[in-house]
Amino acid sequence: MSTAFDLIVLGAGPGGYIAAIRAAQLGLKVACIDAWRNAAGGPAPGGTCTNVGCIPSKALLQSSEHFEHAGHAFKDHGIGISSLSIDVPTMQQRKAQVVKQNNEGILYLFKKNKVSFFHGTGSFIGGNAGSGWQVRVAGKDGAQDLVAPQVIVATGSVPRSLDGLAFDEKQVLSNDGALAMDVVPKTLGIIGAGVIGLEMGSVWRRLGAQVTLLEAMPDFLAAADAQVAKEALKQFTRQGLVIHLGAKITATKLGKTGVTLDWTDAKGQAQTLKVDKLIVSVGRKPNTEGLGAEAVGLQCDARGFIQVDAECRTNLPGVWAVGDVVRGPMLAHKAEEEGVAVAERIAGQKPHVDFNTVPWVIYTTPEIAWVGATEQQLKASGRAYKAGSFPFMANGRARALGDTTGFVKMLADASTDEILGVHIIGPMASELIAEAAVAMEFKASSEDIARICHAHPTLSESLKEAALGVAGRTLNL
Ligand code: FAD
Ligand code: NAI
Repeated sequence: MSTAFDLIVLGAGPGGYIAAIRAAQLGLKVACIDAWRNAAGGPAPGGTCTNVGCIPSKALLQSSEHFEHAGHAFKDHGIGISSLSIDVPTMQQRKAQVVKQNNEGILYLFKKNKVSFFHGTGSFIGGNAGSGWQVRVAGKDGAQDLVAPQVIVATGSVPRSLDGLAFDEKQVLSNDGALAMDVVPKTLGIIGAGVIGLEMGSVWRRLGAQVTLLEAMPDFLAAADAQVAKEALKQFTRQGLVIHLGAKITATKLGKTGVTLDWTDAKGQAQTLKVDKLIVSVGRKPNTEGLGAEAVGLQCDARGFIQVDAECRTNLPGVWAVGDVVRGPMLAHKAEEEGVAVAERIAGQKPHVDFNTVPWVIYTTPEIAWVGATEQQLKASGRAYKAGSFPFMANGRARALGDTTGFVKMLADASTDEILGVHIIGPMASELIAEAAVAMEFKASSEDIARICHAHPTLSESLKEAALGVAGRTLNL
C-alpha cells in the first residue's frame, strides 16, 4: 500500500528542501526524501551544500582567515600575539557544529511547514501521470512506497574523478576529504584551479600548507571578467599559491607517504610534483544513481544531466528536475530559485527565473563576485558598452579595514545605459554583488546607481563610484 502525497521531492539539498517548503506553503501535501547520513547514520538534510559544500567550506575559510589575520594583519593594528597556533581538530569540530545546526534547521523547517521527511534512498518504481508516480524509499528500517502525481527530482551532483585516480579521501581527496583533514599537510597538490581548488587551496595555504595548483586551461578563471581574473592571479600568486596554467597530467603514482604527479607545463616541458595530499577538483557530475530513472523512462542527456525545458519539465508529465542535476551553473542559489519556481508552477502560478542575474561568488581573499556579462562576452557579441571602475584603494572604509585590494567594475549599454554586468574583486564582494543583482533585475541604468545615496563610509560607495565612472565622473578618484 502506497502513501499518497500531492508532491514527492527527491533530495533535500538547496533545490529540494526549498521546493518542498514552498510547495507546502502553497497548500500541497509534500513528502521529501533524502539519503544523506551524518556520522551517526542519522538524517542530514541540506545536501552537498550543507554537508560538504557551501557551508563547511565557508566555516573553514572563516577559521583560516582569522588565523591569517592574527598572524599577519593584527600587528598593523598594534595587536601583538606572542604564540599563535592552530588546533585543526577544534576547527573541524566547529565546522561540524555549523553543519549540524544547518541540518537541524532544515528538519525544524520541515516540521514547521508540515513536510513529511523520509530518510533513505528514493527510487522510481513505476506509475504514470494518471495514477501517480510510484517512489520507493529504502531506509534504515526497510522500504516504504509513496505515490504522487507530481515529483521534483533534486538529486544534485557528485565530484568528478580523473581516470585511474579514484578518490580514497586519504591521499586523493574530493571536496569531502579536502574539508575533513585534521592535520595541515606540508605539501598539497590540487588538480583544477576552479572554484573548489581556489577556496580549498586558500584554506590550507593560510594554515601553512605549501599549495600547488595544476590547471589544464591556458587562461585563469576563464568564466570571470578577464581583468578580474588577472588581478586574482596576481593576488593569489603573491599570497603563495603556486598556480600552473596549461598543465597536463601524464601519470600519477600513489606512494605510502604521498602522491607523485608527472605533468607537462604550458611549454610542453616534463615536470614532476610530489605532494603529501592531492585534491582533485575538476568539476562535478549530475547524480542520478539509485534514482530508478530507467524504470519510468526519465530522459538524461549524454553527460548524464536530466533533460529539462526552460521551466524544469522533464520528458515525463508531472516530473520536474532542478538544481545541479540539470543544465546551468551548479550553484545553491540557482537550485533554490528553480525549486521555488517549480513548486509555484505546480500550484498553478506563473513564476520566472532570470538566469542572467544569477550572481557568482568565489570566497577567496580577495573575494570575487560578478553578475551579468563580462567585458570579453560583450566584445564577442559586438554590443556597444561603456565601462566604469573604482579601486578599493580609494575607498575610505576599505582603508579603515586595511583591505584595499581590488576594484569594482560596471559595464553598461552604450546607448541605453542599462547595466549589463558588474564585476567585483575585493573585500566583501560576496555581499556587495547583491546590490548589482537587484539593480540588474530592475533593469537599472548606471545613472540610477550613481544617483542613489549610499551610506558613508561603506564599501558599497565603490559601486556608486564605479557607476559614476561609466559617465566619466567619479568623485573620489
Ligand atoms: P545537492 O545539494 O547535491 O543535494 C542533493 C541531495 O539529494 C543530497 O542530499 C543527496 O544525498 C540526495 N539524493 C541523491 N539521490 C537521492 C535519492 N535517490 N534518494 C534520496 N536522496 C537522494 N554553491 C554556492 O552557491 N555557493 C557556494 O559557496 C558553494 N560552495 C561549494 C563548495 C563545495 C566544496 C562544493 C562541492 C559545492 C559548492 N557549491 C556552492 C555548490 C552547491 O553545493 C550545489 O550547487 C548545491 O548543493 C546543489 O543543490 P542541489 O539541491 O541541486 O543538490
Ligand atoms: P570548476 O568547474 O569550478 O573548476 C574545475 C577546474 O578544473 C576548471 O578550471 C577546469 O579547467 C579544470 N580541469 C578540468 N579537468 C582538468 C584536468 N584534467 N587537469 C587539470 N585541470 C582540469 O569545478 P570545481 O572547482 O570542481 O567545482 C565544482 C562546482 O561546484 C563549481 O563549478 C561550482 O558550480 C560549485 N562550487 C561553487 C562554489 C561557490 O559558489 N563559491 C564553491 C565551490 C564549488
